[in-house]
Amino acid sequence: MNGVPTKGKVVLVTGANRGIGKALAIKALELGASKVYATARDVLKLAELTAIDSDRVVALELDVTNQRQVNAAAAAAGDVEIIINNAGMGTGALLLAENVVENSKLEMEANFFGPMRMGVAFAPILKANGGGAMVNILSVAGLINFPFAPTYSCSKAAGHSLTQGQRTVMAEQNTLVCGVYPGPIDTDMTAGMAMGDKGSPEEVATSVFEGIANGEEDIFSDTFAIGFAKGLKADPKGIEKSIAAQFQTVR
Ligand SMILES: NC(=O)c1ccc[n+]([C@@H]2O[C@H](COP(=O)([O-])OP(=O)(O)OC[C@H]3O[C@@H](n4cnc5c(N)ncnc54)[C@H](OP(=O)(O)O)[C@@H]3O)[C@@H](O)[C@H]2O)c1
Repeated sequence: MNGVPTKGKVVLVTGANRGIGKALAIKALELGASKVYATARDVLKLAELTAIDSDRVVALELDVTNQRQVNAAAAAAGDVEIIINNAGMGTGALLLAENVVENSKLEMEANFFGPMRMGVAFAPILKANGGGAMVNILSVAGLINFPFAPTYSCSKAAGHSLTQGQRTVMAEQNTLVCGVYPGPIDTDMTAGMAMGDKGSPEEVATSVFEGIANGEEDIFSDTFAIGFAKGLKADPKGIEKSIAAQFQTVR
């Protein structure tokens, strides 16, 4: 599949009000996107972004767990060419906790059903606009179960499989479908968690747009992620065991 450069394109980012999503929206502007639909559950939290370039930033309310809002966003953004499904959350639930099913459902709603809904609503729009790209922000934690966020890992693993499936069905309409696999990144999501050197949201944003431009299907977006991908290729069971060893420190 051909790469999709950002310059001159219309981009939509979910969860654009903070963290990686905000960095993605800013990077899209820097790279010359003609318009950025910055979406968030609370549009008031997009004020800083719109202030950067009120001509090119369009703020939209979008909770990806809300089908009505997903439909409304699709109706409002009929010119979009690059969709970045970034919105996501983790509950920190542990697998043997009583509330694990409820918390896991919350993660699946945002991290799996969210991008699934977005695919249904936006695939026809991408098709009408020439193909473009759909990009799902997943995680290295979706490739191996991480013991400090096991249900989050499950939701990202489901997102990984969803991404492969969307890639297959959207290939015939010339849409590039990318999975992004960051390692630990310094955002609110990892605040207070000791995870060694965390990557920056800006580093992820740079890798994402380079990856889309180069037509990369799997984007390992930061130093940790690149090392993780190499380890996974060389010794998948070894990586599983070394990540599982962290369980001693979380229980
Ligand atoms: N930080 C990391 O180490 C890391 C590593 C790998 C992957 N990721 C992934 O990267 C993405 C961004 O995470 P982040 O690190 O930037 O986390 P963050 O700072 O906690 O930001 C999460 C963003 O997602 C939004 N969001 C959550 N649920 C939503 C929903 N139902 N509908 C719409 N927006 C929703 C949040 O909106 P509100 O402000 O309204 O809550 C916020 O904008 C997530 O998919 C995350 O899983 C993060």
